[in-house]
Amino acid sequence: MTTMTTTTDAPVLTATGVTMRFGGLTAVRTVDLTVHHDEIVGLIGPNGAGKTTFFNCLTGLYRPTEGTVTYRDTVLPPKPHLVTRAGIARTFQNIRLFANMTVLENVLVGRHTRTREGLLSALLRSPRFHRAEAASTQRAMELLDFTGLAPKADHLARNLPYGEQRKLEIARALASDPGLLLLDEPTAGMNPQETRATEALVRAIREQGTAVLVIEHDMRFIFNLCDRVAVLVQGEKLVEGTSDTVQADERVIAAYLGTPFEGAPGQEELAEVEAAEAEAAHAEEDR
Ligand SMILES: Nc1ncnc2c1ncn2[C@@H]1O[C@H](COP(=O)(O)OP(=O)(O)OP(=O)(O)O)[C@@H](O)[C@H]1O
Ligand SMILES: [Mg+2]
Repeated sequence: MTTMTTTTDAPVLTATGVTMRFGGLTAVRTVDLTVHHDEIVGLIGPNGAGKTTFFNCLTGLYRPTEGTVTYRDTVLPPKPHLVTRAGIARTFQNIRLFANMTVLENVLVGRHTRTREGLLSALLRSPRFHRAEAASTQRAMELLDFTGLAPKADHLARNLPYGEQRKLEIARALASDPGLLLLDEPTAGMNPQETRATEALVRAIREQGTAVLVIEHDMRFIFNLCDRVAVLVQGEKLVEGTSDTVQADERVIAAYLGTPFEGAPGQEELAEVEAAEAEAAHAEEDR
C-alpha cells in the first residue's frame, strides 16, 4: 500500500497496444487498458482468452511482442523484479508460495524488494540490520492482521487450507507496498463465504490506496466489485465499461454462452429428453 498521495488523475497503469504472439498463436492482440489510482478494474473472458498472458506482459514475465506498459509516468522494462520495485505486485492463478516456510516468512520474502539492507549488513548482523528486520516483521504482521492470517503466522504455508493460501499470496504481494495489485483468479476454489470475504478484502485494499486489476470467472464477484470491466475474447478486448454495461452487452453473453450451433438440441428436444429421464427415474423407484 502506497503512502504516496496522487495529485493528478493520471492512470497508474497504461497498457498500449500490447500484443503477445507464441509462434503462430496470437494470445493477446493490441490490447489497451488503463487503471486509475482509486479503481478496481475487472478482466474477464472465457478460458484461453489471454487474460493470464496479458498479466504476464504487464509484470515483465513476458516481453510483449508489441506494445508498451507504463506505470505512472515510467515505461516498464520487461523484468519482473523491476516491475515489482516500480510498484506493481501480483498473485498467481496457480498458487506460488514457499510451502515449507511459515506464513510470516512468506510475507517477509515479499517485503524483500522494499528493504535496502545489503548482504554484508545481514551477514554482520549489524544494529542497522536488526532495526530493518524488526521493521519488516512489524509490517508483515500488520499485513497478516489485515488479511486475517495473524493467528497462523507461524504455521507452515503448506498446512493452510486452500482459501487461506490464496489470502497469503495477497498478503505477500502487498508486502512490496504496491500502487497496483494484479489478482489472477483470487477466489478460485473458495466457498461462497470465503469469496465474499475476499470481496471485502479487495475493497479494503483499494481504500488503503492500492489500485486493483482482477481476473475472475465468478461473475457475481466481478460485477459486485468492479468500477470497470474489460472483456477479452480470443486475445482481443471485445467490450469495456461499467458492470451494468458489460452485463447487458449481447456480445459478451454470446462470447460466454456461445451462439447456438447448427443441429443444437432445441427446446422441444430438451423437453423430450427430460421427460424420458423422469420416466426412467420413476421406473427405478417402482422396482
Ligand atoms: N507460454 C506459452 N506458450 C505458448 N502458448 C501459450 C503460452 N501461454 C499461454 N499460451 C496460450 O495462449 C492462450 C491464452 O492463454 P491464457 O493462459 O492467457 O488464457 P486465460 O484467459 O488466462 O485462460 P484461463 O481462464 O483458463 O486461465 C491459450 O491458447 C494458451 O494455450
Ligand atoms: Mg488464466
